[in-house]
Amino acid sequence: MTEDGSGGKNTLTIRDNRTGREYEVDILEGDVIRAMDLRQIKIDDDDFGMMTYDPGYKNTASTRSTITYIDGEKGILRYRGYPIEQLAERSSFLEVAYLILNGELPSQSELDDFVHEITYHTYVHENIRTVMNGFRYDAHAMSMLISSVAALGTFYPEARDVHDAGNRRLQVHRLVAKMPTLAALTYRHHQGLPPAYPENELSFTANFLNMLFRIGGGDYKANPVIERALDVLFILHADHEQNCSATAMRVIGSSEADPYSALAGAMGALFGPLHGGANEAVLRMLERIGTMDNIPAFMEGVKRKEERLMGFGHRVYKAYDPRASIIKRTADEVFEVTGHNPLLDMALELERIALDDDFFISRHLYPNVDFYSGLIYQALGFPVEMFPVLFAIPRTVGWLAQWEELLEDEDQSIARPRQIFTGSAERDFVPVEDR
Ligand code: CMC
Repeated sequence: MTEDGSGGKNTLTIRDNRTGREYEVDILEGDVIRAMDLRQIKIDDDDFGMMTYDPGYKNTASTRSTITYIDGEKGILRYRGYPIEQLAERSSFLEVAYLILNGELPSQSELDDFVHEITYHTYVHENIRTVMNGFRYDAHAMSMLISSVAALGTFYPEARDVHDAGNRRLQVHRLVAKMPTLAALTYRHHQGLPPAYPENELSFTANFLNMLFRIGGGDYKANPVIERALDVLFILHADHEQNCSATAMRVIGSSEADPYSALAGAMGALFGPLHGGANEAVLRMLERIGTMDNIPAFMEGVKRKEERLMGFGHRVYKAYDPRASIIKRTADEVFEVTGHNPLLDMALELERIALDDDFFISRHLYPNVDFYSGLIYQALGFPVEMFPVLFAIPRTVGWLAQWEELLEDEDQSIARPRQIFTGSAERDFVPVEDR
């Protein structure tokens, strides 16, 4: 018994004041109760039973997961237990990808095998270029990428066998390996350039930069500072637990759809400006603000809720996003090579004002991962349409890890939320001439 005599049991007693009945439900690890335990709460036998109402899933755990841990109050992010700061400092993107997909850091030989496997799968079927060529010159790179990932699935019909673990792994490796190739093809299409094929002896990031920027034969060599900066950005974006796009991946995956279809859906979720499209929206916002003089008026508009300060705020982080701190440092290293990005001064000024203003302080609004990443991408020469694409390449790892975890989780079943119907009661059809 506890001091107040409550008994110290891991249960919750719910009293229904409509009926006076009491119910005892289990409290599970993580301070959660099962939503289905509420169904027994009824007024009478005909009653459906109680549900929870949670638009946007603000307080609903949809899964148990061992992949990514976030403490939003303290600004902590860990993949498989390893702090993001250590991984960004000491690891490489493919090593982190292995960690996220397999749960443990690889030995040297495991890493070598994984790198070989990913490198081996970088080529895409030539017909994918026909798909790309169907797009107009100004098609958004992210829309092209989403479509080409869905199209890629048609080349691997065996991917639909989602219960075969070995087959699943093959598709995972294919997708991780081919995303940079597809992304580079969207860029080359946009620029009106012929494709540059993968160079498999290069690192994941150097190969990607090569496929983007090589003109002619073999004359491009990525600057090592830029190669490393992009690798760090990829590490930071690799997973972020149950966000909007990971949830989309899981929802689609729960119907046992193939991973190419599920990934295309997750990418659609990422594209929105409130999620991964925010990096593009930040750049467009900074360009629209234009000069430092316009910042105070812009911020007043944000406080009047006429618009949002893009790249600020987060559903989970109520402290500085740890990824934003690392990106800010990475930006300094990149700008030493590329020269200063004048938009950075505006971003810093927006941050300075926000962190000192009660509107933002009281709402716990801090810079998120998207606030500074776009500035780096721009300095590297990417058009804004490529920004969400650059987010999608590394997040593919997280989406696929979430998808595999879902398929191996016996608690999971097809995603199918309930609704509270607020429409019309039954009524009789009226012929059009009588309406
Ligand atoms: N600028 C101004 N006010 C904001 C912002 C912002 N960026 N974000 C939230 N608020 C206000 C919002 O108006 C609300 O005020 P009030 O309590 O007076 O109604 C309060 O803060 C809480 O906002 P919310 O919309 O209820 O919070 P949410 O958890 O539903 O939304 C968010 C989270 C990320 C969608 C939101 O903060 C936002 O729209 N931010 C801008 C877009 C952005 O940067 N997205 C990237 C997110 S991080 C990377 C990723 O997910 O890919």
